Amino acid sequence: MNSLKKIGILLGLVVFVVSCQDKSKPNYQYMPNMYEPVGYETYEKVDFLPGQMEAMLPVENSIPRGWMPYQYENTIEGKEMARLMSSPLDSLQKEENLLKGGELYNIYCMICHGPQGKGQGTLVKREKILGVPSYADAARNVTVGTTFHTIQYGLNSMGSYASQMNTEEMWQVSEYVMKLKQDLTK
Ligand code: HEC
Repeated sequence: MNSLKKIGILLGLVVFVVSCQDKSKPNYQYMPNMYEPVGYETYEKVDFLPGQMEAMLPVENSIPRGWMPYQYENTIEGKEMARLMSSPLDSLQKEENLLKGGELYNIYCMICHGPQGKGQGTLVKREKILGVPSYADAARNVTVGTTFHTIQYGLNSMGSYASQMNTEEMWQVSEYVMKLKQDLTK
């Protein structure tokens, strides 16, 4: 056999093998267990489960980890009750809590309320949102409790942040807001 023939046969073989490939179907799997998990995949269709999906709603009255039910309702009376609450966080950890609270504040609140809590955040300066108060606004009598309450439920054009932060984090931010208020009223 001359080498041209050999090359021809080899080329033919390659074409033969490659042409069997069908990109619209999965290829042969040698060890399917390596690819297909025995457990259910997230959001997989499962006929016998409620909703026919792997993902289910939590049982009624279940509480996410790190999140405590909040006792006061989103009413004027609820807010007045909240006004009297003090922070449950350890006062010996004040420094750490303020540090963490400050970080969270800068992420979630500063854009509207401004770095010092004067109500002059970037969105206010650009006139994208109106009516953001200073924490020192005497008429509002902002306390650590009403701040927690406001983060929990939101207030008019301010949304709730209860789904972004856990209970401890909401208190940390509230303590930080109180520190800003103190500095503003110095
Ligand atoms: C989208 C802009 C925006 C963001 C972000 C925002 N706020 Fe507000 N906030 C407002 C506005 C507007 C008001 C005034 C609402 C009203 O009185 O109608 C307000 C009011 C408040 C008040 C006063 C409530 C009272 O009792 O009168 C507090 C305290 C407060 N915000 C804290 C926070 C904290 C803490 C965060 C971050 C977790 C935050 N806000 C994020 C817009 C915002």
